[in-house]
Amino acid sequence: MLKKLSLATLAIAGLTSAAIAAGGEGKIKDKDFSFEGPFGTYDQNQLQRGLKVYTQVCSGCHGLKFVPLRTLSDEGGPHLPEDQMKAYVAGLFIADEPANQHLYDPDLEELRALKPTDNFPAVNSAGAPDLSLMAKARAGFHGPYGTGISQFVNGIGGPEYIYSLLTGYTGEEKEEAGVTLYENTAFPGGWISMAPPLYGDDVEFDDGHDTDLSHISEDVSAFLMWTAEPKLIARKQTGFVAVFFLTVLSVLLYLTNKKLWAAAKRKE
Ligand code: HEC
Repeated sequence: MLKKLSLATLAIAGLTSAAIAAGGEGKIKDKDFSFEGPFGTYDQNQLQRGLKVYTQVCSGCHGLKFVPLRTLSDEGGPHLPEDQMKAYVAGLFIADEPANQHLYDPDLEELRALKPTDNFPAVNSAGAPDLSLMAKARAGFHGPYGTGISQFVNGIGGPEYIYSLLTGYTGEEKEEAGVTLYENTAFPGGWISMAPPLYGDDVEFDDGHDTDLSHISEDVSAFLMWTAEPKLIARKQTGFVAVFFLTVLSVLLYLTNKKLWAAAKRKE
């Protein structure tokens, strides 16, 4: 009985969430990222490729103002060698806008060069949101009924959302109040003001990795997950150590308890 009931509820929940999904909520493609699951870690080469896509394509409109440049050398992240990281920092373009005025040097009377201790520059001029935390600010998976069960199974789906957004353009455009909107199957509402940023083969990789639309979208989504959660791997490791110690502690407590009461139990 109970089983039948729960099956029926699940079916209803499934139907409603499908109905909601059709009504404006975007289509999210599930991707298997290397950092998913309890043992997942970032793929260093993928993060380096994603950094390249971000730098060559997205950074014209989107900033990463919460991400310290020196962390590009962090282990567990892109892990760029120190000299490559410094060369990268030296070559970065800084938009001359209010958000970057902390870099203004009164002696030089212009913006000074970036240092590894600085964050990525901000970019506001294009009207595009900062991407530092975007992978955590968007959820790819929802419901059913706001219970979050889907997220428990699939993850929150931030990187999947970005991937689906980048690969979700249909090619349709329309103009509304002087703004060109592009149809996108992942964007809530279906129309986004960001022109398709990637078409495939937008960058070249030294490691000869695929540069088709799906692969580069996946790479930049993984990179943006890292910027949003750079300590993901450390967090998982700490979790394992904590669980291990708690297990040992439980065993010790159990044995202590047994020993303490042993005398009393024998008397009964
Ligand atoms: C020509 C400028 C431009 C470029 C280049 C660009 N974007 Fe955007 N992007 C925008 C604008 C403008 C918006 C705001 C769109 C809106 O809200 O309608 C946006 C929004 C976004 C959003 C947020 C969507 C949401 O849910 O609110 C993401 C994610 C994003 N861009 C990712 C990227 C990535 C990744 C790249 C590089 C591959 C990129 N963008 C390149 C202009 C750009």
